[in-house]
Amino acid sequence: MAVQTPFYHYDIELLENTLQTLTAAIPSSNFKVHYAIKANAEPRILQTIRKYGLGADCVSGNEITRALECGYAPSEIVLAGVGKSDAELNTAISNGIHSINCESIEELEVINEIAEQNNRVAHISFRINPNVDAKTHHKITTGLSENKFGIPISEVSRAIAEIRKMNALKLTGVHFHIGSQILSMDPFIKLCTQVNTLLDEMEAEGVELEHINVGGGLGIDYLNPDGNPIPDFEKYFAVFHEHLQVRPGQTVHFELGRSVVAQCGSLISKVLYVKKGATKNFAIIDAGMTELIRPALYDSHHEMENITADAAMGMDTYSVVGPICESSDVFGQLEMPITKRGDIIKIKSAGAYGQVLSSNYNLRDSAIAYYSDEMTLNACIGKEEQVAIS
Ligand code: LLP
Repeated sequence: MAVQTPFYHYDIELLENTLQTLTAAIPSSNFKVHYAIKANAEPRILQTIRKYGLGADCVSGNEITRALECGYAPSEIVLAGVGKSDAELNTAISNGIHSINCESIEELEVINEIAEQNNRVAHISFRINPNVDAKTHHKITTGLSENKFGIPISEVSRAIAEIRKMNALKLTGVHFHIGSQILSMDPFIKLCTQVNTLLDEMEAEGVELEHINVGGGLGIDYLNPDGNPIPDFEKYFAVFHEHLQVRPGQTVHFELGRSVVAQCGSLISKVLYVKKGATKNFAIIDAGMTELIRPALYDSHHEMENITADAAMGMDTYSVVGPICESSDVFGQLEMPITKRGDIIKIKSAGAYGQVLSSNYNLRDSAIAYYSDEMTLNACIGKEEQVAIS
C-alpha cells in the first residue's frame, strides 16, 4: 500500500468534465452558478471549480475565508444560513461579498447594525420558504413550512416594510432552496410557479429585484456511478429558462453543490477482517461513519467495489461495515468476489457531503485527499508506480 487508508480520491478529470458540461448547459448569460461549498471545501476542488467561472455559496464565516483564499472574488460570494453569528456577518460585510441571504425579520436588525458599524450597505436577499415539497429524503428537505428555513411567504410584506426602515441594508434579491438530491424536475417547476407569483406581489409593493436565487438541489445517480455520472444540467437549467418569469436586467442564481462534486470522489478503504457472523459475512473495513456518514445518517446508498479481488475466485455476499462502535456504522450489502484481509474497497459517489462531514469520533485520524492528476488511484494503492503527470 503506497498511502494510508482510508483516504479520499478525487477524479479531477471527471470534475473538469462535469464543469465543462455544466457551463455548456447554461442557456442564458443572466444565469450565474454559485458552487455550494458545504458539499466539499477542499482547496483543490474549489480552485478547479473557480477556473470555470462559478461563484461560491457559503454558509459560514470560515467558508467565506476559504473561498477568498481559493481566489473567489468577494463579488462572487454569497452567504446563507439560518443562524449566522455576528462574527460571520462581520466577515461577510467587511469583505463586501455579493449578498447575504436573510432568513428572518429578526436577523435584518442584526445585519443592519453590523453593516452600520462597517460603514457599508449590505445587499440582502430574502430567503423565502416557498412551501414546495422536494419529494426527497425528509432529512434533506428544506422548503416546507414545517422546516426551520426562510421567511414564510405570509411574512414577506412585513419583511419589506422592515427593511425599508433600515439605513444600511438594500434589498436586492430573493432566495429559495427546496432540498437536495432531487431527481424529478417537477418540484423545480412548482418552485418556479411560486417564485413567479411572489415576484408579481413584490413588484406590486414597489420592490425591484436584481437577482433571483433558486438554490441548489439537483441530484446525481448514486445507483450507476460508472455509467454516465454527470447529471443532466441541460434539463435542469431548461426548467428555469422556460418557467421562471425573469424581468429584464435580472440575474438568476443557482447554488449547486452535490451535482458538481459527488461523482468525482471515492472513499478508499482496506478490508481489515472478513468475519463469519451467525447469519451473514462481514467485511470489516478501515473506513467508517467517521469518514462517510451518509449511509448511517440518511440510509443513503453508495455503490461499492472490491478493486483488488479477482472475480474468478467466485462471489459471495458481504455486509460491509466500518470499525466504529455504532450499529449504524454500515455501508451496505455487497455481492463481490471472495474477499480477504487487505483487499481494497472503493466506495463511490462520495465527493459531496463526504469528507466535509467527517468527524474524529473515537479519536480517529482524518482521512486525507489525493487527486487523480497528482496520484492515480492505482498508484495510491500500490498497484502501479506513480508516473509523473503533467
Ligand atoms: N443552497 C442551500 C441553501 C442549501 O442548504 C444547500 C444544501 C445547497 C444550496 C446545495 O444543495 P445541493 O445542490 O448540494 O443539493 N448532507 C446531505 C445534504 C444536505 C444539503 C444541505 N443543503 C447529504 O449528504 O445528502
